[in-house]
Amino acid sequence: MDKTYIISRTEAFVKEQLGKDTTGHDWWHSDRVRNTASAIAEMENADVFICTLAALLHDVADEKLNPSKEAGLQKVHTWLKDHLTDQEQINHIMNIIETMSFSGGGGEPMKSLEGQVVQDADRLDALGAVGISRVFAFSGAKGRPIHDPGVDPREESLKEEYRDYSKGTAINHFYEKLLKLKFSMNTPYGRKIAEERHEFMLSFLDQFYKEWNQGDK
Ligand code: ADP
Ligand code: NI
Repeated sequence: MDKTYIISRTEAFVKEQLGKDTTGHDWWHSDRVRNTASAIAEMENADVFICTLAALLHDVADEKLNPSKEAGLQKVHTWLKDHLTDQEQINHIMNIIETMSFSGGGGEPMKSLEGQVVQDADRLDALGAVGISRVFAFSGAKGRPIHDPGVDPREESLKEEYRDYSKGTAINHFYEKLLKLKFSMNTPYGRKIAEERHEFMLSFLDQFYKEWNQGDK
């Protein structure tokens, strides 16, 4: 099958799967990750087709949107088997998505360059102006407050605790996760974009505290 055709069929599939999500995993997240992944892939000489399909499909398997992680991965595998004939390409894309879906718990490092590119693109979407918007959208959806000066950031060590949204605030998520992400970038170009977005988040936080404390003696 023609690559352009497979990509456009995959776009339609992802839109149908993620269209209604309002917690940060909507279609536009996948679309941004796909665009960023293509840009990094060009710079790093990675396979753009593999990066595009893996980026588009990475959240279809997300355990938050499926009965289980295995069920989510099975859904993506079935889709790939129905649209690709090259078993190596199918295995490669599945490997990227599996590694990404386990990375929240401190999983294995990404093996292939294409996987590193897609993981960087996904992490970049949690940074900068878009990343800031997603934290507050996600926090609102989970009932977390914007900020509470009496609540300290937690270590994001235990996955269960990290997923316990009842504790913690949106602002603390910057310290618990977002401001650490630039140190875990895989590719030089990904790291360069992460640096810019990191600086933007720092200036956002500066302004936030300035406004929060306005009028303090
Ligand atoms: P992804 O699957 O895109 O890698 P996550 O599922 O971890 O990322 O998070 C989706 C979005 O929601 C991210 O932008 C992230 O910053 C935000 N988010 C995740 N966990 C929290 C949290 N505990 N509090 C606030 N925002 C969160
Ligand atoms: Ni994602």
